[in-house]
Amino acid sequence: MRASIHSRRASVCDIFKRKGGAPIVCLTAYTAPVAKILDSHVDLLLVGDSLAMVIYGMDSTRGVSLDMMINHGAAVVRATTRACVVVDLPYRSYEQSPAAAFETASKVMAETGCDAVKLEGGVVMADTVRFLVERGIAVMGHVGLLPQSVKASGGYRVHGRKPEEAARIRADARAIADAGAFSIVLENVVEPLARALTADLAVPTIGIGASPACDGQILVTDDMVGGFTDFTPHFVKRYAHVAGEIERAAAAYAVDVRARRFPGPEHCAAVASKKGRAA
Ligand code: KIV
Repeated sequence: MRASIHSRRASVCDIFKRKGGAPIVCLTAYTAPVAKILDSHVDLLLVGDSLAMVIYGMDSTRGVSLDMMINHGAAVVRATTRACVVVDLPYRSYEQSPAAAFETASKVMAETGCDAVKLEGGVVMADTVRFLVERGIAVMGHVGLLPQSVKASGGYRVHGRKPEEAARIRADARAIADAGAFSIVLENVVEPLARALTADLAVPTIGIGASPACDGQILVTDDMVGGFTDFTPHFVKRYAHVAGEIERAAAAYAVDVRARRFPGPEHCAAVASKKGRAA
């Protein structure tokens, strides 16, 4: 098992300095137990608003509230000591104005103790990113497929195939990098474009359905371990089949309960406790 390369919590500066270096390992985390397991294997944990679908069964990321993000963000920070923790700003909590974004982002930072926030959008969000960074809030950008506006941009499809769209994504990524983001997620962007952007930008790119050339990679943990099975994007590689394991365990438990095989004597409290044993 690979121990963390960090002897303390990785900072946004540590992540930024990895530009062009060893790949930055990122995953999502929403809960304390999972974050604790992932902590020593990754450089960065994202409390993504994908939790709307993965944890709450919503049909898009738009339904998530600021309080939900704060509660999950705080749980992940509490459970970790190594990974840099980034929390997504939820839909309609930051787009209105740089001042609104600052209010939301400072609340998230103060109430979770996270290292940075992530927001979606390119050129139109550049002033907001600059406003936050100038006031001491580290920002991760997100361009290409934007889950918060996925319906308006034609669904979960690959971005950047058409030259005009590729030019737009290039402009978006440059604007967010120039505005001071410490890293940028490139989601579902055609490989050559992601590769070119990685070569072009001075900040680390974090790919999801993008390119092995990106400075880092991220996946939704529940996709990666086969825990979320409603749908699986083409870019996901499954490393485990957790849903099948849970199903097998639940079925075995149900058989035991119905047969009165569980609980056994060792799971029941005796009237007198044995000397030297707790409970
Ligand atoms: O919300 C999320 O999990 C994300 C990742 C897919 C990058 O934004």
